[in-house]
Amino acid sequence: MGGRLKDRVAIVTGAGSSGPGWGNGKATAVQFAREGAKVFGIDINPVAAAETKKIVEGEGGNFVAHAADITKDEAVSALVATCLKTFGRIDILHNNVGVYEKGGVETRDLAYWDRVNAINVSSMFLMCKHVLPVMVRQGGGTVINIASIAAIRGLSPDYSIYCATKAAALGLTKSLALEYAKHKIRVNAILPGMIDTPLALEPIRKRVSTDEFQRILGERASLNPLGRAGTGFDVAKAAVFLASDDAEFITGIDLVVDGGLTLKPM
Ligand SMILES: NC(=O)c1ccc[n+]([C@@H]2O[C@H](COP(=O)([O-])OP(=O)(O)OC[C@H]3O[C@@H](n4cnc5c(N)ncnc54)[C@H](O)[C@@H]3O)[C@@H](O)[C@H]2O)c1
Repeated sequence: MGGRLKDRVAIVTGAGSSGPGWGNGKATAVQFAREGAKVFGIDINPVAAAETKKIVEGEGGNFVAHAADITKDEAVSALVATCLKTFGRIDILHNNVGVYEKGGVETRDLAYWDRVNAINVSSMFLMCKHVLPVMVRQGGGTVINIASIAAIRGLSPDYSIYCATKAAALGLTKSLALEYAKHKIRVNAILPGMIDTPLALEPIRKRVSTDEFQRILGERASLNPLGRAGTGFDVAKAAVFLASDDAEFITGIDLVVDGGLTLKPM
């Protein structure tokens, strides 16, 4: 166990994982706890959050699981109150919830646009809306928003709606960083690239054979200049850095965690 986040209280949204293995949020919740944080882990799926709790507690860490749909204002208000009742303060807000699905302007309707924006952007807005006043009262804190390299470049056909939501996350990050700097609150974004999480891989695994799946994994790895796809722990370790005092003079950045993928010509 490290101590870079010793006794800090961290909210992690999407602290479970949408399938077997390690999602970004699950890995971050575990890594925060390994660094000494008390983690308040939220997930719409209580079974997924309970699994993360089991892992953290198995390692001797501190994790409270809370089931909530964070696209709902009342649910976010209630969970912030519960976190404060449980731990007394909030030092770190890690906004990880998001869905990654194909969807373009011609192929999807307004209801789909609204749904993806609610999960990827409104959730971030609501968490910031309810947590920032707490951090202002405390005299500081740090927020990490999970965007994507999709915020700064186009993705292959039919991902324009996802890209738009991630660009919104980046805009929110930079504006809040400027606005809340005077309160000693740092706000940064992480832009993961190709990360092998259940969110990215399960839809592929479900539609192809085992051999074809292995071939696709190899192809994904070879696309990255560093020769492998990322893992949830690559994102988690970047989050620990941004949440820790090692990043005390860093705010408003978009930290790309992509094995060099965005360095390549399109
Ligand atoms: N995997 C990648 O390649 C990649 C790349 C770039 C960015 N990202 C981003 O990383 C983030 C997390 O990805 P992940 O792989 O951990 O995903 P994941 O699906 O494994 O985990 C997300 C968790 O959020 C929960 N969740 C979904 N909607 C919720 C809601 N309304 N309220 C509360 N909880 C909710 C899910 O139940 C799930 O457990 C997303 O924002 C995604 O866009 C992923």
